[in-house]
Amino acid sequence: MRKPPAAEASPLRIALLSQCGGAIAVWILVAGLDLLTTADFARIPLLLALVQGGIAAMISLRLRAPVWWLPIHLAFMPLAVAVHGLDIAPGWFLAAFVLCLLVFWRVDRSRVPLYLTSDAAADALLELLPAAPCRFVDLGCGDGGLLRRLAAARPDCAFTGIEHAPLTWLLALLRSLGQPNLMIRRGDFWGEPLGGYDVIYAFLSPAPMSRLWLKVVEETTPGALLVSNSFEVPGVEADSTVAVGDRRKTRLHLYRQALLR
Ligand SMILES: C[S@@+](CC[C@H](N)C(=O)[O-])C[C@H]1O[C@@H](n2cnc3c(N)ncnc32)[C@H](O)[C@@H]1O
Repeated sequence: MRKPPAAEASPLRIALLSQCGGAIAVWILVAGLDLLTTADFARIPLLLALVQGGIAAMISLRLRAPVWWLPIHLAFMPLAVAVHGLDIAPGWFLAAFVLCLLVFWRVDRSRVPLYLTSDAAADALLELLPAAPCRFVDLGCGDGGLLRRLAAARPDCAFTGIEHAPLTWLLALLRSLGQPNLMIRRGDFWGEPLGGYDVIYAFLSPAPMSRLWLKVVEETTPGALLVSNSFEVPGVEADSTVAVGDRRKTRLHLYRQALLR
C-alpha cells in the first residue's frame, strides 16, 4: 500500500513546524540581521505577523501539506496579534479550544469534520431503506439528528450510531433517550464489525472512502448496502446515485454488496 506523505500522516506536526519556521525566520530578519530596532519591532507587530504567516504558508507548501492549510497559516499569527489587542481574558481562549476539541475531536487524524445530513437527504434515505425490518448503522453519527428521525419513522428497524467526538456523542445519546430502536455508542467506527448490518450509512469526506470500501467488502454480507452521502469510493462505480433536491445538491451513492466485484 502507498505510504502517505509526511503531511498526510502527521498534519499537526507539519503545521507546527511551518509556524515555528515562520517565527524563526522573522526573528532572524529582525534580530539576526538587525533590520529593525526593538522599538520598530514593538510598533509593527501586525506587519511582522503577516510576514511570519507568509513564510509559514510557504514552508507548509514545501512540506506538501494540503493547500487548505495556506489560509490558516497566513491568518493565524495576524489574528493572534489582532485579538491580543482586544484585551480578552485568556480563559475564553481555553474555553473555545476545549469546545472545538469536544466537537471536532481528532479531525486532523480522521480528516472528517462535522456537517449534518439535510432533512431532504434524510427523507431520501428513508425511501432507500428495505421494506422489511433492517439493521442500520451511521458511521460517525454526529449529533444523532438523522438517526432519531429515521428511528421514529421506522420503528421496525434497529438503528446504531457510532461517534468519537465527546460532545456530539453526548448530544446523540441524549437524543436517543426514549427511542427504543436507536442505540448510540461512543468510539471509533473503524473498530466496529459491519457484519450485522443491512445498511451502512457514511457521510464522511473523500479521505477515508477507499479504506471504508475495503472494510465494507471484507465485513458485510451479500445484500448489504453502503450509502455514502456526497463522497464516492475512488475507482469503484456506484450501483446507483440518488440526487437529492436540497440546497447542497446532495448525492447519495449506493453500493450494493450483492454485486461484489
Ligand atoms: C460529516 S459528520 C456526519 C454526521 C451524521 N452522520 C450526519 O450525517 O448528520 C461526520 C461525523 O463522523 C465523526 N467521525 C469521524 N471519524 C470517526 C471515527 N473514526 N469514529 C467515529 N466517529 C467519527 C465526526 O466526529 C463527525 O461527527
